[in-house]
Amino acid sequence: MDLVRVDNLIMHYDTREGPVRAVDGISFRLKEAETLGLLGESGCGKSSVASVLLKVLPDNAHIVGGHVFFRGDDILQYGEEKMRRVRWEGVSLVFQAAMNVLNPVYRVEEQILEAMVAHDAALETGKGRSRVAELIELVGLDPHIMDCYPHQLSGGMRQRVVIAMALACRPAVVVADEPTTALDVIMQDRILRQLRKVRDELDMSMVYITHDIAVIAEVSDWLAVMYAGKLVEQGPTVGIFDHPRHPYTRGLMLSFPSVYGPRKPLQVIPGEPPSLIFPPPGCRFHPRCAHATSRCRKEEPPFVELAENHHVACYHPG
Ligand SMILES: Nc1ncnc2c1ncn2[C@@H]1O[C@H](COP(=O)(O)OP(=O)(O)O)[C@@H](O)[C@H]1O
Ligand SMILES: [Mg+2]
Repeated sequence: MDLVRVDNLIMHYDTREGPVRAVDGISFRLKEAETLGLLGESGCGKSSVASVLLKVLPDNAHIVGGHVFFRGDDILQYGEEKMRRVRWEGVSLVFQAAMNVLNPVYRVEEQILEAMVAHDAALETGKGRSRVAELIELVGLDPHIMDCYPHQLSGGMRQRVVIAMALACRPAVVVADEPTTALDVIMQDRILRQLRKVRDELDMSMVYITHDIAVIAEVSDWLAVMYAGKLVEQGPTVGIFDHPRHPYTRGLMLSFPSVYGPRKPLQVIPGEPPSLIFPPPGCRFHPRCAHATSRCRKEEPPFVELAENHHVACYHPG
């Protein structure tokens, strides 16, 4: 059975201008110990998908359709009580900006402990501190930092504390939403390696969200490329890197500098992502696509399996 199965998920935000179609028919599956990379430019709906996976939605969001199965149960049907359990032991979230998650007036130990006690009240009576130390070591930090306040730590250390909190109840799946984006490149690389190590040690599954195609190559078994609220390409990461089929995926790859290959000018995809209130008809990528024909401007391309498990929504795949 799939650990997570997202089935034709549709989520809109209500605004005065009209609904923002942030998630518009997304489907994917994730098995035990697998990592799915969710890739796309800023504003395409990645964090919106994450917020549905954990049902931490802002007031103006509403789920229009679809299912999110966790171990076969549709969590979209769950009430808040059941959902709280899923959020710790089942699906846990590493947020984009660590500083907004950590409370400045509590020491690291208290914050991690709170995450654990929420589940296991017995912890309050003593063995908590050693469990916190274990978690801090797990993310590659010195246990002594548990006596620090967040402002006494560097950005990279804070991000690791946030990861430790997400792991406090040994979740089956970690959803990591751009966990390294706010950090410098060297720190990004270290956090990424640590996250991979922990994932492998704990046999966790992961949904790794990023706009950075270089990072995706390093962490994910499966890749889902998102554009303007929809998936345009999905498949094994190696297969997509070997042979990207959708013009958008190809564009993303060309805009990424090759470390080993000959130096060539970076090609950036021209234009901007569309409004999600008034998305273009047909293929949402057509206004930016060099291959677009009249059909692309009128009809929405279906998701078609072009190679084993490799799906593409395009009338003119490369
Ligand atoms: N609470 C909200 N109300 C209205 N629009 C929102 C809200 N949150 C996000 N959006 C819009 O939804 C779209 C998708 O946003 P998001 O999921 O954050 O994208 P990403 O994580 O890929 O950058 C964007 O157009 C964004 O402006
Ligand atoms: Mg985001």
